[in-house]
Amino acid sequence: TDPAVIRNFCIIAHIDHGKSTLADRMLQRTGIVSERQMRAQYLDRLDIERERGITIKSQAVRMPWTVDGRAYALNMIDTPGHVDFSYEVSRSLAACEGALLLVDSSQGIEAQTLANLYMAMENDLAIIPVLNKIDLPAAQPERCADELAGLLGIDPSECLLTSAKTGEGVEELLDRIVAEVPAPAGDPNAPARAMIFDSVYDTYRGVVTYVRVVDGKLEPRRDIEMMSTKARHELQEIGVISPEPTPSQGLGVGEVGYLITGVKDVRASRVGDTVTRADAPAEEEVAGYEDPQPMVFSGIYPIDGADFPDLREALDKLRLNDAAITYEPETSVALGFGFRCGFLGLLHLEITKERLDREFGLSIIATAPSVVYEVRREDGEIVSVTNPSEFPDGKIAEIREPVVAATVLTPSDYVGAVMELCQSRRGRMNGMDYLSPERVEMRYTLPLAEIVFDFFDHLKSRTRGYASLDYHESGDQAADLVKVDILLNGDQIDAFSAIVHKDAAYAYGVRMCKRLKELIPRQQFEIPVQAAIGSRVIARQTIKALRKDMLAKCYGGDITRKRKLLEKQKEGKKRMKAIGSVEVPQEAFVAALTSD
Ligand code: GTP
Repeated sequence: TDPAVIRNFCIIAHIDHGKSTLADRMLQRTGIVSERQMRAQYLDRLDIERERGITIKSQAVRMPWTVDGRAYALNMIDTPGHVDFSYEVSRSLAACEGALLLVDSSQGIEAQTLANLYMAMENDLAIIPVLNKIDLPAAQPERCADELAGLLGIDPSECLLTSAKTGEGVEELLDRIVAEVPAPAGDPNAPARAMIFDSVYDTYRGVVTYVRVVDGKLEPRRDIEMMSTKARHELQEIGVISPEPTPSQGLGVGEVGYLITGVKDVRASRVGDTVTRADAPAEEEVAGYEDPQPMVFSGIYPIDGADFPDLREALDKLRLNDAAITYEPETSVALGFGFRCGFLGLLHLEITKERLDREFGLSIIATAPSVVYEVRREDGEIVSVTNPSEFPDGKIAEIREPVVAATVLTPSDYVGAVMELCQSRRGRMNGMDYLSPERVEMRYTLPLAEIVFDFFDHLKSRTRGYASLDYHESGDQAADLVKVDILLNGDQIDAFSAIVHKDAAYAYGVRMCKRLKELIPRQQFEIPVQAAIGSRVIARQTIKALRKDMLAKCYGGDITRKRKLLEKQKEGKKRMKAIGSVEVPQEAFVAALTSD
């Protein structure tokens, strides 16, 4: 295809502003999906995405569109919507020349829209502002147009009004894409270079890699090379998605499509890497490739210890289509055998837990999420801690924790509530701007550890659901942190150790001691539950001793009842965990970790 008739674009939108619905309408209007084939949200393929209404994996689809008798090829690249996947978003944007800035006209701009818009501007993309859901009675297109105009430095009349529900404005939108998004530029005679912006594991075909060709041409049955690893593969198939995969004779400058090499693991075909031809390799990668870095760690354990091999197998399978997840075996006194897993962020963790449950039928328990701390000991040694129970003993010179640059967008009525929340989470304000008299953008530096717990829930409840949040990593800072251990009869329960700010240590200790006291059954002797920093106890509860022998109740009673009771006790014992001299049913730990 002649690059002059190619238009590559993506859609930037906040969750629920109508990206998938608009994409569906465009597929219909361009005629590549018929009314009959149309199922809601054609592009969202994972079930969990559909149910949660979020887009995790980006896809690309090619649509024909004719303007003034000239046939164009529009490549729509779907970007993931959530902060955890910001590197993938940046690669999707880098594969485009234009972006639709899609805003729900009954809501206005949100924090994620803003973050992605800034990223698109840095990539010099042409921006087409689109106000969606104009069919809604609550729509306020004029107000939103003013907001967008202020942000983009344009006239409010340049905003296009659409309803992805009724289809209004969609044809005009397709015309504007052709008119305003620049055609791709690249050298057809240079060595082939294509950037990977997505890679998805398919049970039947192996890994399907989505690429955007920058220079030269990729052709089937030639060997290709992955520039970051120098790994070589045979190009078994190459083509475009329209809307199903259609093999072609190759992809040239500016084209977007997929390739299949037969590799079985997405790690062999990573987002951000450059593909070149093995017989005539390019010299330079398209852009510096970054390895995904896990930011949040959690111990994942099967509730039934017998499921451990199944858990390992499930993680091995998940890894085939998730290049970002990491895991290694770990043992816990309280929870048995499990894995220490690393995730890009909290949503990534949630999604993984849910997939283990739904796709693999595993019941699992996860320990509280932890970030990566750099601990410098007095002897100068630096230890990287992802698991609180591995926190080094002895004198510590400094602890550094990761911080994020966070943006909160909120109606102006809630500015005070947001400030209060951010301050209570050790936030430092970096600035505040009014987008309009009613809407404010607030910028903070916050410790990542404070965000991974329940920051988002609190933000939502304090602003009646109106505020939105976006953040990206922004280095680290020294902080006054301590490790709090929870002890049962003097012995540490490993899964409950936590690294918290000095000022929050007492509250954490009291909360966990109370919770465990309620959940751990009484025993023959009195058991102290304590929270301690090093050897200093900061909180204590006592589990009182049982007054009567359980069997005493059955004295003189019928023997089968007695036997039943004994059997039941034996069964319970199977899942008992010994913490020092105390036997505790695993359920108690599971409940203590999940209740909040
Ligand atoms: P994510 O995939 O989670 O990012 O969401 P999305 O931006 O793709 O939103 P989606 O297309 O799933 O739309 C969210 C909701 O808004 C759905 O219930 C849609 O039916 C509805 N919706 C989308 N566009 C319109 C519109 O123009 N008018 C009305 N009334 N509803 C719309």
